[in-house]
Amino acid sequence: MFEGKSILTGVKPTGKPHVGNYLGAIKPAIELARQAGRFSLFIADYHAINAVKDTELLQKEIKEIACVYLAAGLQPDKDYFYRQADIPEIHEITTILYAFTPKGFMNKSHAYKACVEKNLAENKPADDGVNMGLFTYPTLMAADILAMDTDIVPVGKDQIQHVEIARDIAGAINAYFGKELLKLPQYYARENIAVIPGIDGRKMSKSYNNVIPLFEDEKTTKKAVYATVTDSKSIEEPKNPDDVIVYQIYKCVADSQKAEEMAEGLRNGKLGYGHIKGMLLNEILEKTKEEKEKYDYYMAHYDEVKGFLADGAAKARPYAQATLKRLKETIFG
Ligand code: ADP
Ligand code: TRP
Repeated sequence: MFEGKSILTGVKPTGKPHVGNYLGAIKPAIELARQAGRFSLFIADYHAINAVKDTELLQKEIKEIACVYLAAGLQPDKDYFYRQADIPEIHEITTILYAFTPKGFMNKSHAYKACVEKNLAENKPADDGVNMGLFTYPTLMAADILAMDTDIVPVGKDQIQHVEIARDIAGAINAYFGKELLKLPQYYARENIAVIPGIDGRKMSKSYNNVIPLFEDEKTTKKAVYATVTDSKSIEEPKNPDDVIVYQIYKCVADSQKAEEMAEGLRNGKLGYGHIKGMLLNEILEKTKEEKEKYDYYMAHYDEVKGFLADGAAKARPYAQATLKRLKETIFG
């Protein structure tokens, strides 16, 4: 399905990834990369500044996300790995797209709508705290996608609408000029991927403060794992694995045989919460050991990473330049 296709995805540098991001987005992206004809992964730094204005924080988050993806197996020599800020043509393309983007698309965009709904629920003016970057976000995202002649955009469910907007804008431009100036992208929703629960049982998410951090030292990881919510059943009491959050997380991390062993031990009163937290911790540490070493290496050798990003931008930029040229020549003659 992906052979020969151009696949692209963007990641916002907003907070160090956690185990949920790793299993739900980062590893699946790397798997796709190995099947794609051309795989582009860029750091969406211009998207990030809508929310993050602190330069030092932004730099830290860009560095962390870049090192996480490299550690997780992105291949900078094969893949297109770059920073959005290094492809200035994206912004010229965005301006052209604006001229073909109904404002209604932006009004309907769920990132903006979620802000408005939150404001109204808190009795604030609808647009309180909404900047134009957030409002026009889907058009910039469309430019990210269209600039690179993308066939497929792998997304979480929340981003499907944005890819559809990109497709609609591209379709409108192609229809207006009567030729295929822009490739129509398709989204690929990762439906079969589990939502990883956090240590309180809700979806693991930065916004819920319930995460198990990724590539941290043993002590920090242990602290999060051992804070996973449990009831007060003794070791001997039989426990239903479906009610045990530690198990719910474990079965996303460990292979099915190991998960079944834990489930069995819980059902027949052989395993207590201390045991299973230890098992979860070991599994996470073991599964991420090599990648954590790579992560630590890249964090300590960031110049190398910057070199990869610069090379990636040099490879990607000609695509954006060609797209922009096609558009300008058609529009301005
Ligand atoms: P967060 O909820 O921590 O803010 P993001 O919304 O930034 O995470 O998600 C980044 C990517 O990680 C998305 O593709 C999303 O689908 C994936 N993701 C986030 N949390 C989880 C989770 N608990 N389980 C599986 N995938 C997740
Ligand atoms: N909007 C995406 C997110 O919040 C990030 C993103 C920006 C993106 N541009 C993109 C994803 C282009 C895919 C393609 O996660």
